[in-house]
Formats: sequence, C-alpha cells, structure tokens
Amino acid sequence: WGKQGHIMVCKIAEKYLSEKAAAAVQELLPESAGGELSTVCPWADEVRFHYRWSRPLHYANTPGVCNFSFSRDCHNSRGQQGMCVVGAINNYTDQLYSYGDSKKSSYNLTESLMFLAHFVGDVHQPLHVGYEEDEGGNTIVVRWYRRKTNLHHVWDNSIIETAMKDFYNRSMDTMVEALKMNLTDGWSDDISHWENCANKRATCANHYAIESIHLACNYAYKDVEQNITLGDDYFFSRYPVVEKRLAQAGIRLASILNRIFGDDKQDA
Ligand code: ADE
Ligand code: ZN
Ligand code: ZN
Repeated sequence: WGKQGHIMVCKIAEKYLSEKAAAAVQELLPESAGGELSTVCPWADEVRFHYRWSRPLHYANTPGVCNFSFSRDCHNSRGQQGMCVVGAINNYTDQLYSYGDSKKSSYNLTESLMFLAHFVGDVHQPLHVGYEEDEGGNTIVVRWYRRKTNLHHVWDNSIIETAMKDFYNRSMDTMVEALKMNLTDGWSDDISHWENCANKRATCANHYAIESIHLACNYAYKDVEQNITLGDDYFFSRYPVVEKRLAQAGIRLASILNRIFGDDKQDA
C-alpha cells in the first residue's frame, strides 16, 4: 500500500488492541510517533533505500501461478529463504516476543514493531503477492481514468484516492470511520474468522499471502492488459476488495499484537 493505506490499516488496528498490547506499543513507539501507531506505519517505505536488504520484505512473487508456496516463493534475489513479506512478518513477530524478557533483547524492538505493522498491511495488498514476471503489476502500464500509471500503483494508491475523493469528501478520517462502521455492522460476523490463527507463537501470514495471490488473479490482474484504460467498471468492482483487505489487515495486526503482548500470551 501507499502511505494512506498503511495509515488506515494501523488506525483500524489501534482500535482493536488489548490494554496490554496498547501499553506495550506505547512503550515501544518512538518519541516522534506522538503516541499513535499509525504515524509510524509508513516508515518501512522510507528506509527501503537506507536498509537495502529490506526491499524484498515488502512482497513475494510467484512464477506466474495463482498460488503461493513459502519454500518456492519466499526468498530474495540471492535465493536467501524467508526474505519476503511472509518471512518478515514471522521474523518480526518472533523478535517482539522477547519484549519484557529479563535479559535485555538484542533486537531493536521499536524497529521490529514498525516493520511488523507495515508488512502486515503489505501482505494484504493483493499485488504484493503477484507474478515475478511483472513485478506485482509494476511493469503493467495502464491508465487510471486519464492518468498514466501502472497496475501496482493503482492498487497501492489510486483506488484508495478515488474512493476518498468520490465517497469520503477527500478525508482519510471519514474513510477510516466508514471502515470501522463496516467492522461493527456488516463484517462483525467475519472478524473472528479473520483473526483465527491456530499457529502458536507464529502468525498466519502464509495464509494471508495465499488469499492475496487469489485476489490478485481474480480481481487485480483479471481482464487487464498492457496500456488498457481502467475506469468506473474496474473501480466499482475492485473497490470493495480494497476496503475489505484494509480492514482485514487492521484486525489481523491487532490480533498479532494482542497475542504477543496481551493476556492470551502463549507459552514459548
Ligand atoms: N517488486 C517486485 N515485485 C514486487 C511486488 N510484488 N510488489 C512490490 N514491489 C515489487
Ligand atoms: Zn506496493
Ligand atoms: Zn511496503
């Protein structure tokens, strides 16, 4: 996602944190965050160039197939296993479990939290688990209404921006309020399914990546070719997917943090 998508995911997550998780997050946030997780959620994009190793941690790519396999697809360009968005989520989650250990953690848990919050957002962007060949839609040139862009950017930014402009008075806060309202009304029965994850002391990021490649095939890539113009038809049929993925990401980020810091903390 772009900056706005990441902020929205984290604004939703903040609302669903347990007391313990909220307190731990407060303690780990940098001074500059002003006490809000959402302000640091775009940070990982700002350090992509400084921390060059972190670049492949934002996504995973498949060899042109509509399924995701950790052993096949989760690696960087040098073939190092786990260097993709799914491995990153599991790794930073694992690091955060050392919070509160008597022996001071050797990890910078502030950075672990900021990376985790960002990557849980990214794994829910369908084209962050896309095809290697087109770099998750980055090399597919399209027009978004009249403007020239690429398919990846449409899913990171344009759909969200158009929705904010057309439905929400150009206000991100209004859009977040609408998503929160959906979560308490229309999606309330889905939340427990979204949160459900049987993996002890690990995450279900692998499952979120599988959902994303399915959505990439069935919605993002569907009926798209080089230089096509995407407009109302595409926007109105894909926007519901974007809304739901932002909300799911927020719920699941909160759920991961609650498992790490909260009362239901599992045994090592
Ligand atoms: N670069 C290469 N593949 C990518 C993807 N799926 N998402 C974002 N950036 C990428
Ligand atoms: Zn992206
Ligand atoms: Zn990212």
